[in-house]
Amino acid sequence: MTIYNLGSINADYFYAVPHLPAAGETLAATSLGKGLGGKGANMSVAAARAGAHVRHIGAVGPDGGWMVDRLMEYGVDTRAIARLDTPTGHAIINVDAAGENAIVLYPGTNRCITDQQIGLVLSEAAAGGTLMFQNETNGQRYAAETAKSLGMRVICCPAPYETSALEEVISFADLVILNEVEARQHRDATGRPIGEGTNLKVITTLGAKGCVLMDNMTGQVQEFGAPQVTPVDTTGAGDTFAGYIAAGLDRGHSLEQSISLAVRAAALMVTRHGTADVIPDLKDVQDARF
Ligand code: RIB
Ligand code: NA
Repeated sequence: MTIYNLGSINADYFYAVPHLPAAGETLAATSLGKGLGGKGANMSVAAARAGAHVRHIGAVGPDGGWMVDRLMEYGVDTRAIARLDTPTGHAIINVDAAGENAIVLYPGTNRCITDQQIGLVLSEAAAGGTLMFQNETNGQRYAAETAKSLGMRVICCPAPYETSALEEVISFADLVILNEVEARQHRDATGRPIGEGTNLKVITTLGAKGCVLMDNMTGQVQEFGAPQVTPVDTTGAGDTFAGYIAAGLDRGHSLEQSISLAVRAAALMVTRHGTADVIPDLKDVQDARF
């Protein structure tokens, strides 16, 4: 089937810094890199590299042609990416010596996607297909509601976290994938764990400690460890994980099988500098010796 990913496309600017800058501090970076990124684009590339057919729904401006070309080169179907007249999104990513990051985003065209654009693409989708989305675009609610009514699998990755944005879409989701910071933000904002009282499956990623799967229907909780690696850049690891999960489910694998492969893909990703351009493919992940 096809994975439809409503997602952001950013130009990523990487600055290697000795530590993340504090308020009022001026800091010289020791290197600069530029590449394709955006949580959306990263997930599309990850799912494609995991072997899935992925159609990206998004938007770029006049400065974004190279990003669409690159997505295409990486095997993503780019026909549903609109070309608009405002600047494309970009991200300023500081990466410290331990591989931790702090990101500032300019959303640009990522927030200019129309319901009409989404509706047109999803009118070609079939039951059994997948919709996934993050929180760096607009249109998530319309997309989620439409996909649900079509009988598609709906995967919600609520990053960056925003309570109201998540509440608008949660009733349409089958699976939520978030990190422990986002899970805590949700608990703090609402007073309860995500998915409580629903049939949702929730995967909370725990960085080097792997992830936890909570099945709210059965109440079952499963923990998955991660291979131990020396991180150089954790940026994009969560996106790689989510893309691999979507691809695994699309291929008919169980959620547990999909998670087992996805934690390996994410572990490999943290050993690489960069985002979409360096996401490992299925062979890399299978061959990796941890
Ligand atoms: O998750 C990493 C991504 O967050 C980067 O590629 C950056 O563009 C931001 O969207
Ligand atoms: Na990385």
